[in-house]
Amino acid sequence: MKTAIRYQSRGGNTRAVAEVIAEVLGQRAQSIDEPLVEKVDVLFLGGGVYKWDADSQLIEYLQKLDSKKIGQIVAFSTTGGMKKAISRIIEYADKAGIEVNEKQLCIKMMLQGHSMLGREGGHLSEKQIAEIEAFTLEVMAGF
Ligand SMILES: Cc1cc2nc3c(=O)[nH]c(=O)nc-3n(C[C@H](O)[C@H](O)[C@H](O)COP(=O)(O)O)c2cc1C
Repeated sequence: MKTAIRYQSRGGNTRAVAEVIAEVLGQRAQSIDEPLVEKVDVLFLGGGVYKWDADSQLIEYLQKLDSKKIGQIVAFSTTGGMKKAISRIIEYADKAGIEVNEKQLCIKMMLQGHSMLGREGGHLSEKQIAEIEAFTLEVMAGF
């Protein structure tokens, strides 16, 4: 089974989550700037939430989703609380006729990654890492 991981991340939080997923799958996480080079059975796709919505670059990526290249999408997100990135991924995958895994991962990061607070993003707690690892294994066990 071919899998790939793509993320949109401004502050590093979603990238950090993608990197944990990638480690479990034994491959690299890449930003949505990196196109898929071959068809994948499962695409783990994630992003953050900014001013009540997904990032415009993620929306652009979603508008170009190709059902000939992606068998199924597993949506993940980091957020202050809103699930808008997840709902956007589901919305556009539906439009493209791509199946979405019933399991989704939404990690609350509070204000981490807000540079105005002088904090860097991408720091996951042990508990969050364990949650991401368990999620990834659970998703893969479903195939
Ligand atoms: C400028 C900005 C606006 C944000 N707006 C929202 C928001 O409207 N709702 C929300 O739930 N989280 C919001 N957040 C929190 C981010 O979704 C959260 O920090 C996320 O982990 C960012 O992901 P990233 O570090 O991968 O970019 C915002 C964060 C920033 C920096």
